[in-house]
Amino acid sequence: MESLQDRIDQARAEIATAPTLEALEQKRVALLGRTGLLTAALKELGALSPDVRKSRGAELNRLKSELSELLEARRIALAQQAMAMRVASEVVDIGLPGRAGGTGSLHPVMQTLERICAIFEGMGYGRSEGPEIEDDWHNFEALNFPPHHPARAMHDTFYFANGELLRTHTSPVQIRAMKGREPPLRIIAPGRVYRSDSDQTHSPMFHQVEGLMVAEGVSFADLKGTLEAFVTAFFGRRFEMRFRPSYFPFTEPSAEVDIRWIDAAGNVRWLEVLGCGMVHPVVLQNGGIDAERYTGFAFGLGVERFAMLRYGVDDLRAFFENDVRFLAQFD
Ligand code: DAH
Repeated sequence: MESLQDRIDQARAEIATAPTLEALEQKRVALLGRTGLLTAALKELGALSPDVRKSRGAELNRLKSELSELLEARRIALAQQAMAMRVASEVVDIGLPGRAGGTGSLHPVMQTLERICAIFEGMGYGRSEGPEIEDDWHNFEALNFPPHHPARAMHDTFYFANGELLRTHTSPVQIRAMKGREPPLRIIAPGRVYRSDSDQTHSPMFHQVEGLMVAEGVSFADLKGTLEAFVTAFFGRRFEMRFRPSYFPFTEPSAEVDIRWIDAAGNVRWLEVLGCGMVHPVVLQNGGIDAERYTGFAFGLGVERFAMLRYGVDDLRAFFENDVRFLAQFD
């Protein structure tokens, strides 16, 4: 009992000064664990006479609960200390400016499309839209492409099994816009179009803006004036423009418009930027408009083409790869 008493005194002191939770746990095991000091002493009780066993048993149990309490008190103190140290070391400086999330921006093709539309809206044109999945009648037939007409072959059309198709141009919106409306009318129709074609200057999906004006006495001169005003507004300066005779089934006469461009190497180049013409009388009739009384002009331009010229991008595919390093330049 004497030596046990000494060892218990020593244990009290060690518990009070245990430096860490780990050291304290080792102490607990050494005292109260399965082979600990007190556990062993309690096991020895069986060998004692009943009288001695009773008083010594009571004493040992008292020591056991005393030590348990001391251990628990020290454990709580050490845990609080550890928590206080963590809190002190993990201070978050909420005054520090955060990392900005970085906002996205409109895709350069969409910026260009908006710019084109805004210019025409400024001239009094209203926006119209049509479906990207079209029927043959709106995309071709009503636009004066008879069945098997060779001009259809230029369109590399994506067809669905049911005969519908992905519109190959925004011109079908002309028909939809004329239906149920009385001239005078002025509309632009921006949107996606699809052709089975892909290289440095062609993408299977691209964007067009269609324009249509129908009224009494509309002439080719109106068309030229409108397009010259548009090109000047779009690029912010005047360009020499060339109206080259061309062919589209839905316009007569038809023209392709080139602008005189000086490239990076200083060479003169004539760049085709859009197609246009006077709306074919058959197309007016298909739109429910009296072709004896009204005339109209129409035009269709490629948005990516205008974006490439405006931003000096020479590979169309850059617009579709969506590399943020490219896109971030148009913020
Ligand atoms: N739809 C034609 C195309 O995609 C472009 C076009 C040409 C539209 C002449 C027009 C137009 O409205 O008058 O190739």
